[in-house]
Amino acid sequence: MTTTEKLQFMRIPLAGDKGYPKLHFGSRDLRRTAGESVFDQSYSRIALRPVGVSIGAEVQGVDLADLDGETFSEVHRALLEWKVLFFRDQALTGEQHIAFARKWGSIEVNDFFPNGEVREISRLAKDDSAIGMENIWHSDTSFRREPSKLSILRGIELPASGGNTMWADMAVAYDNLPDEVKEKIDGLTATHSFVKSWGLTMTDEAIAAMNRVHPPIQHPVVRTHPETGRKFLYVNEPFTVRIDGLPQDEADELLEYLLFQARVPEYQVRYQWSPGDIAMWDNRITQHYAVSDYFPQRRVMERVTVNGDQPF
Ligand SMILES: [Fe+2]
Repeated sequence: MTTTEKLQFMRIPLAGDKGYPKLHFGSRDLRRTAGESVFDQSYSRIALRPVGVSIGAEVQGVDLADLDGETFSEVHRALLEWKVLFFRDQALTGEQHIAFARKWGSIEVNDFFPNGEVREISRLAKDDSAIGMENIWHSDTSFRREPSKLSILRGIELPASGGNTMWADMAVAYDNLPDEVKEKIDGLTATHSFVKSWGLTMTDEAIAAMNRVHPPIQHPVVRTHPETGRKFLYVNEPFTVRIDGLPQDEADELLEYLLFQARVPEYQVRYQWSPGDIAMWDNRITQHYAVSDYFPQRRVMERVTVNGDQPF
């Protein structure tokens, strides 16, 4: 048996009691794009240095405070291709941060997080008095009818080491599901709600009030990217409550299996921050995880988020 044949052999899903694979080793199919024609052109205004394989590239030769239309359209294409982009040493002001975000759409004002000095900016300051809860794989605000399209995060104050952010590519996570799982989840929806996670720290009254603004919402388990048409897996741990239309046991086991996919290292990229860096991610097709390994050191970030559309 050749090495390739052995790897193919290892990819055969070994079913657990109810039919989901319990072993996850073996080769992975890591296609950055799925043959979309938008990616046929090359880049002439920007340079890209891959950080991950299917996800994550550093963009070089760009000043985000002074972007002409042609460069912006290449950055846009690069975001669709790489899903997460990094820009080093940008030293943007808050105002420039917001101005850059506005180029992508209208700004989302977060109903939950304390804002910075202006309402468009969420200031995420973590130290030993305010430990973060973002060390869980998630997609921002999937509990909204129209979840965030993209997030733009600016490094303000970073620990000497640690405090990385990780992202997972949910398109390759979908691609690598066994065919029988793809068939099973095709057409299914899942219910999302903030109550599952953020609700744990809220009073009943606050939950009831916020539920009027953001009631539980159903989104497709397999979502289609509105700009590229690529299919991807759209369930995440803190906000996806259950898979709809299945008996509870079956729904629970399927959800647990699908949530596991974001944890597969081959689908991920990890970024080590310096102050002044910008990371922006397509929040539709990715999940992210803020590694909480630096306490009691301090880590301060500012985020501006762009409104998205209704998943289909
Ligand atoms: Fe987040």
